[in-house]
Amino acid sequence: MRNIYIETYGCQMNTADSETMLGHLRQHGYGRTDSPADADVILLNTCAIRENAEERVIGRLGDLMRYKSRRPGVQLGISGCMAQHVRDTLLDRLPWVDFIVGPDSYRRLPELLGNGNGDPFIDVRLDRAETYADIVPQRDAGVRAWLTIMRGCDKFCTFCIVPYVRGRERSVDAESLIAQAHTLADEGFKEIVFLGQTVNAYRDGDVDFAELLRRTAAIDGIERIRFTSPHPSDMTDRVIAAVGEHAKICPQIHLPVQSGSDRVLANMERGYTVDEYRGIVEKLRIAVPGIALSTDIIVGFPGEDETDFQATIDLMNEVGYDQAYMFKYSQRSGTKAAKWEETVSEDEKGRRLQTIIEQQHERAARIHQGLIGSSFPVLVEEQARRGAGWMFGKTPHFRTTIFQSTSVQPGEIVDVRIVEASAHTLTGAVA
Ligand code: 5AD
Ligand code: SF4
Repeated sequence: MRNIYIETYGCQMNTADSETMLGHLRQHGYGRTDSPADADVILLNTCAIRENAEERVIGRLGDLMRYKSRRPGVQLGISGCMAQHVRDTLLDRLPWVDFIVGPDSYRRLPELLGNGNGDPFIDVRLDRAETYADIVPQRDAGVRAWLTIMRGCDKFCTFCIVPYVRGRERSVDAESLIAQAHTLADEGFKEIVFLGQTVNAYRDGDVDFAELLRRTAAIDGIERIRFTSPHPSDMTDRVIAAVGEHAKICPQIHLPVQSGSDRVLANMERGYTVDEYRGIVEKLRIAVPGIALSTDIIVGFPGEDETDFQATIDLMNEVGYDQAYMFKYSQRSGTKAAKWEETVSEDEKGRRLQTIIEQQHERAARIHQGLIGSSFPVLVEEQARRGAGWMFGKTPHFRTTIFQSTSVQPGEIVDVRIVEASAHTLTGAVA
């Protein structure tokens, strides 16, 4: 049996893709190893969203090269978004890389890896129809399962490489998703997280995203449903209503806004104004009182001036995000914005980023402090890093909560009363 070692970079979608590749390769006689020293195939499943993500992988490929010289026949390569992005330049830079496979070519991996004539191979064709619906992912055990419901993106925000490296939007057929959700429930998973680049753009015939949520909520054994990442423009009243109606659909939504300035949003071609975004937030708060919101923010987009940046700060304050993923704009070749001159220096981007990171940290701490004394049902995951006797899990609002117990098991839902809070973690006692 040949063994594969996979390292995953980037978003949750890549983690799910790694599980799909592992599941597919297992069907073709591959085992999995957690050590590159034991591997016949070493694969980095990569991300291209920002330049530093790519630089990390290039560095790591250099490190892993030594396993090739130690053992003949070891194949070292990359898959995923960066594979697509650097297909023409990677082999010039790193000629000893054996393979490069794009996000729609995983099905061919066993065949490509098995054709070992020693020549490097590249398969980065995008395929509008590929959803991997029939491949059973090899998931790690746990209480939460990620389920990819759609792939690709048709939005073409001007900063973003995703539509180029992952291709056109396509949805997995609803019947197969519901069957998979039943299987996950039977396997003991308590929580399902739907994944897609614009997850709420999901559609299969009559089944839109709202209907998929409803059908999944009806499955016994599945206690919680989340999804990431929705696009504000696809946050329809039907979706908002579904989230409000079903207790299993968690009161927590990641809703990337990117900027609080209309001018910047227009240049990003995000497809909404700040007021329209506010309108969605209002509807969500009415339908789901107490909903926790998180977001993505980019600072230093070409043309972003101090007033635009201040508008982002103001919007973050106004919405009161539980969490925010904040980034410096990174120019990506091939995108529309890459043709525009950068107007914000690296130093200034750093300053803006630091400013909102600090404010967000304080905001999260404040929100968490306000929860002291309240109780929440925590879905228990595993032992907390604090050590023996401490467990951790998530509240419905996706807040990490730790508490002492020697009797609760992963997968149980227990009521925990919050006694202490920091920006990252709630500490509580079983109520
Ligand atoms: N530069 C910086 N951040 C980016 N993102 C996407 N493209 C870029 C880029 N070129 C961020 C967006 C997106 C998140 C996944 O990554 O905020 O929502
Ligand atoms: Fe990128 Fe925009 Fe598509 Fe999100 S919606 S993946 S930011 S192009």
